[in-house]
Amino acid sequence: MMRNIQKRLVLISVGVALFFQFIGSAYAEGFYTMIDGELERPTGYREWVYVGTPLTPNDMNNGKAAFPEFHNVYIDPKSWGHWKNTGEFRDGTILIKELVGVGSKAAVSGNGYFQGDFVGLEATIKSSEHFPDELGNWAYFSFSTPDHQSLTDSASAFPKEACNACHLASAADDFVFTQYYPVLRMGKAAGMDAIGGVKSNLN
Ligand code: HEC
Repeated sequence: MMRNIQKRLVLISVGVALFFQFIGSAYAEGFYTMIDGELERPTGYREWVYVGTPLTPNDMNNGKAAFPEFHNVYIDPKSWGHWKNTGEFRDGTILIKELVGVGSKAAVSGNGYFQGDFVGLEATIKSSEHFPDELGNWAYFSFSTPDHQSLTDSASAFPKEACNACHLASAADDFVFTQYYPVLRMGKAAGMDAIGGVKSNLN
């Protein structure tokens, strides 16, 4: 009798532990958190999938580029998997654009543009749940501070005119500038060919 009760207790505690493990992993799958309409600053994105680095330097834009830094762009791994398999951005996609200043223009390899310090962070999210009224359900955020010395802990979405309109007009795929991100361009619905090192050592 006693042993039966003990067995049951063990089974119940295993069940409870599994339940919490399930809740924990479901929670960990979220790559962003919205609280009261504000996006909490995402974390861990340098371990997501890196897609490319556009650069619009000041000295090629009359000294006043809108974004004079390098733009290191990352996509969350779940959305990368979906893109690789379907060629579409899933509901829930988040892309991060980390701004990095031009640190130096000369190296032992030659003259050029070399990455310096991190100076800002932006994000875009496609969510029909959170942004039903935005064009394409994409909303745009910035955590950069005016002095580029720190980041804010949360951000509210920019108005459509500030960001979405240009992305709608000029981006190659569903508001995203995939034409400038070779990893997404080559990887679109490419399945295992998207992962690199498959066709040739340049793909
Ligand atoms: C005049 C057009 C234009 C406007 C306005 C604009 N962007 Fe972009 N955005 C681009 C281009 C072009 C790229 C890709 C090349 C690059 O980063 O320079 C880009 C890339 C991005 C990316 C990387 C993911 C993607 O969609 O390609 C984010 C995030 C982003 N912009 C955020 C913003 C935010 C936030 C605003 C509003 C404050 C904004 N953008 C306004 C043209 C624009």
